[in-house]
Amino acid sequence: MGRKKITIVGAGHVGAHAALWAASKELGDVVLVDIVEGVPQGKALDLMEASPLGGFDAQILGTNDYRDTEGSDIAVITAGLPRKPGMSRSDLVVKNAPIVRNVVDELIRYSPDTFIIIVTNPLDAMAYVAKSVSGFDRKRIMGMAGVLDSARLRAFVAMELDVSVEDVTAFVLGSHGDDMVPIPRYTTVAGVPLAELLPKERIDAIVERTRKGGGEIVSLLKTGSAYFAPSASVIEMVESILKDKKRILPCSVYLEGEYGLNGLFMGVPVKLGAKGVEEIIEFKLSDEEKDALNRCAESVNGLIGAINL
Ligand code: NAI
Ligand code: 2OP
Repeated sequence: MGRKKITIVGAGHVGAHAALWAASKELGDVVLVDIVEGVPQGKALDLMEASPLGGFDAQILGTNDYRDTEGSDIAVITAGLPRKPGMSRSDLVVKNAPIVRNVVDELIRYSPDTFIIIVTNPLDAMAYVAKSVSGFDRKRIMGMAGVLDSARLRAFVAMELDVSVEDVTAFVLGSHGDDMVPIPRYTTVAGVPLAELLPKERIDAIVERTRKGGGEIVSLLKTGSAYFAPSASVIEMVESILKDKKRILPCSVYLEGEYGLNGLFMGVPVKLGAKGVEEIIEFKLSDEEKDALNRCAESVNGLIGAINL
């Protein structure tokens, strides 16, 4: 059996770093696609030249031609505009919806059996666009946000308590926006609930910082948005699928009644394995958490309504 084929569309900050993570973990060969001529080719060549130093064997090809993506096992879409200071993820909807539509069209022409993971913002609405265009079963198409938002929460808890990030588990559900739903009740340190380790006001502050985590980086960088943690997050999902690890990760998936929601993408815990989204895990939410999830659904539906599909 040859190597898996991983296509990454958008050779910008997130795409290029996702290519580096995928290759350095030897998850497969990588095809990096972008509309700008030379950029995917240059970044792919640079990555190939890094491979003897990183000690990884992977072919990394940069291209502007979707024929090179033929037969991809998995495709990650990062094509589109990132946020600038003062912009919300929603402001991106009008610009990024046609880009995602076009990219999905091209991808599925050459790889009708691929898995697709959307990264482009506004995440949950762009995943909806991708599903509508592809007509794919919901097992094969999903969005990345919860892994990133949970990683931010985990990092902040580890920083606060001065413990290893490896011992902190956390779930952030809902939409990828300031109304996301971090669940401190299900946040633990080596199995111990967070509420036993930190006072409520510190937990509240960490939750608030997590909600605004994307914006905090945008206001520091000034010219774009985060990319190290986002690229690592999407590759965690890719790895779970390609290695059939069956990780339980919060991902944006198309809901058909789960959590009382229907016909939209929203971040919930799922099992990711060789069949893609193998299971949607429904754990018990408090009334307050349910209300927060419903508020996310309203804002995602509002965005979807603004897109001319
Ligand atoms: P970037 O500007 O560095 O890269 C975007 C790339 O997409 C550029 O190279 C551009 O040439 C390319 N592109 C534009 N139109 C294209 C098309 N039609 N076909 C192929 N390539 C095309 O932006 P960055 O920082 O990599 O972010 C990419 C997207 O990911 C943004 O929409 C950003 O908001 C989103 N994002 C989402 C996250 C999440 O948690 N879901 C986290 C981080 C970023
Ligand atoms: C983030 O959360 C921009 O959505 C991106 O960093």
